[in-house]
Amino acid sequence: MGLLERITTANNEKEAQQKKEAIAAAEKEEQKNYSLKQTAGTVGANDTYIIPGADDEQFVAVQDETHREVTKVLAKQDEVTIDTIKSLIDEYLTESHPEINNTEKMTITKNVIDEIVGLGPLENLINDDSVSEIMVNGAKQIYVERKGKLLKTNVTFKNEEHVRRTIDRIVTPLGRRIDDSNPMVDARLEDGSRVNAIMPPLALGGTTITIRKFSKKPLSVENLKQFGSLSDDMAEFLEAAVRGKLNILVSGGTGSGKTTLLNVLSAFIPSNERIVTIEDAAELRLMQEHVVTLESRPANLEGNGAITIRDLVRNALRMRPDRIIVGEVRGGETLDMLQAMNTGHEGSITTAHANSARDCLARIETMVMMAGMDLPVSAIRQQVAGAIDLIVQQARLRDGSRKITSICEVTGMEGNTITMQEIFKYRQEGYDENNMSVGDFYSTGIRPKCCEKITASGVQVDDHWFF
Ligand SMILES: Nc1ncnc2c1ncn2[C@@H]1O[C@H](COP(=O)(O)OP(=O)(O)OP(=O)(O)O)[C@@H](O)[C@H]1O
Ligand SMILES: [Mg+2]
Repeated sequence: MGLLERITTANNEKEAQQKKEAIAAAEKEEQKNYSLKQTAGTVGANDTYIIPGADDEQFVAVQDETHREVTKVLAKQDEVTIDTIKSLIDEYLTESHPEINNTEKMTITKNVIDEIVGLGPLENLINDDSVSEIMVNGAKQIYVERKGKLLKTNVTFKNEEHVRRTIDRIVTPLGRRIDDSNPMVDARLEDGSRVNAIMPPLALGGTTITIRKFSKKPLSVENLKQFGSLSDDMAEFLEAAVRGKLNILVSGGTGSGKTTLLNVLSAFIPSNERIVTIEDAAELRLMQEHVVTLESRPANLEGNGAITIRDLVRNALRMRPDRIIVGEVRGGETLDMLQAMNTGHEGSITTAHANSARDCLARIETMVMMAGMDLPVSAIRQQVAGAIDLIVQQARLRDGSRKITSICEVTGMEGNTITMQEIFKYRQEGYDENNMSVGDFYSTGIRPKCCEKITASGVQVDDHWFF
């Protein structure tokens, strides 16, 4: 080889080496970003939530093929571990799809494992802490709520059968099932997230799944203040109201933050009191040590053995509770709850679904009637007026924020009407250029009557809250 040739070869080799190093560096960089990409989808234009690769047809085809082939091999094995699955995927891809780069391989491996042992396409959304709710409307439409905003995702299921398989994976271990004779089901994920599924023909657009994610750390009153959900004065007043044993009803629409507020209020209960909580699906997380948690139970497959919230409220009265906290009243249990509040279980708290404090009273009345006791309306109203001290109204505003829009006290009866007065209020002025709500909290300048009850329990009231 002449000198010139030797130099050219050397240069080529050097160049090739440099190229190789550059590719390796790029891949390394991409892998570094990989875990970030995997746990957090990005929000793209038009309010879409994007998981990388989720709608790339070619990529998804290789992934499905790998899943199929690996499952075939796994079916013949007795013992399967994550490591076996990983190495099978690796072998298959190296042999059949050498064009796949390392990053893609990692993504496929993760997704195929999610498919085999997890909840498939939902897994990425479940692992993203910034996602608070997941809504599957049939196979091809998945929405999430993120920072209070509804976003469409690029994630899909293959078909209806795929959705059904995924929901089966959630409910079967809990001894429940979803099928033609049982087309609606409630369940919880291992991390406590609440799941509801309803299938055709009831849901016309295909099996619909709603997952309310359980935030790893429950929101505190400080968080709510930071989010602008209530003012300092309102927070201090509510703390005094809970410590002073007022009976409180949190009212609001779906997803307005009722359960979250109930949890925050319950945190104010002094730790020397015995608390019994009653829920359909245990969502509350109290920090106190002395808490008894009760959960209702649906009927079994033969239709027997249901234990309702109402059964549990009645049972709770025999458990020497200082406070009874009911996750939500929806029916006849409301009567038992009112009776408990009226007969020495002051300081009980619950939530109800209503759009204003006045509306909430009407709802309560209807729910008491559902107890089937045939009570005259005037008697029901007496019970309500005597039992409930405060109604805290919460709302989800258009910008996704949650606000306590009103705190009212129930003052008694005038003729046949329950009387109320508003103590705090949110004044909505409009929306700013980013479509965020602009407004403020103010007190109506009334010193509530319930202050007497609060001070009688030895809790201080600060008049500055009201004036
Ligand atoms: N003050 C708040 N600010 C911001 N987000 C909130 C606030 N309160 C609750 N959230 C979020 O809103 C979502 C719904 O909250 P929550 O479960 O408390 O509502 P809910 O009224 O009990 O709903 P449902 O009617 O379905 O029972 C959750 O993701 C929660 O983290
Ligand atoms: Mg709730």
